[in-house]
Amino acid sequence: MQLRKPTLDDLHLLFGWINDPFTIRNSRSGKPVAWETHSRWFPEKLLDQNYRFFVGLTDDESPCGLVWFYKNADGIFETSLNLASNWRGKHISEPLLRSAILRNDPDSVYSAEIHNSNVVAIKVFRKCGFKLAYTQPNISTYVRIKKAEAS
Ligand SMILES: CC(C)(COP(=O)(O)OP(=O)(O)OC[C@H]1O[C@@H](n2cnc3c(N)ncnc32)[C@H](O)[C@@H]1OP(=O)(O)O)[C@@H](O)C(=O)NCCC(=O)NCCS
Repeated sequence: MQLRKPTLDDLHLLFGWINDPFTIRNSRSGKPVAWETHSRWFPEKLLDQNYRFFVGLTDDESPCGLVWFYKNADGIFETSLNLASNWRGKHISEPLLRSAILRNDPDSVYSAEIHNSNVVAIKVFRKCGFKLAYTQPNISTYVRIKKAEAS
C-alpha cells in the first residue's frame, strides 16, 4: 500500500476519522476528541520527531486510514491504527499497518494496546507479527519484536 505523510491540510479529515463512533469505542479514553484538543495536538505532534504518522492511500489514491507511532522512552513504537469507516471490511488494514511498519523501521520493537473485545483489530495486529504480551481485564498489550514475524 502507498503511504504519505499527513500535513496540516489533513486536520479536518483526521478529526473525522478520530471521532468515528467505532474508533471512539475502541480508544483508550472511550470519549470523543474535541476540535480544540485535536487542532492543538496534531500540528504540535507533526513537528515532534517521536511521533510518526502515515496516511494509507488506496489504488485510486484516496486516503483510507492512519497509522501512527509514538517512540516512547524505551525506544518502543506505541502503535495506533484507524481506518476510515467507508474503507473498513475490505481487508486493507493489514497492508496499511504492515507498510507503515516497514516504512518507519522494520527492525524496531512495536507495541499496541487493544481492547479485548476488539477482535478485528487483534486479528489484524496478529497478522502483522504482534503477539500478546500482557493482558488486563479490558485491554491487552501486543508486541511485535522481529521483522521476520511480520512477513
Ligand atoms: C481495526 C481496523 C483498522 C480493522 O480494519 P477492518 O477493515 O475493519 O478489518 P479487515 O476488513 O481488514 O478485517 C480484518 C480481519 O478481521 C475479520 N473480521 C471482521 N469483522 C469481524 C468480526 N466481527 N469478528 C471476527 N472477525 C472479524 C476479517 O474477516 C479479517 O480477517 P480475515 O482476513 O482472516 O478474513 C478498523 O476496524 C478500525 O479502524 N477500527 C477502529 C480503530 C481501532 O479499533 N484500532 C485498533 C486499536 S489501535
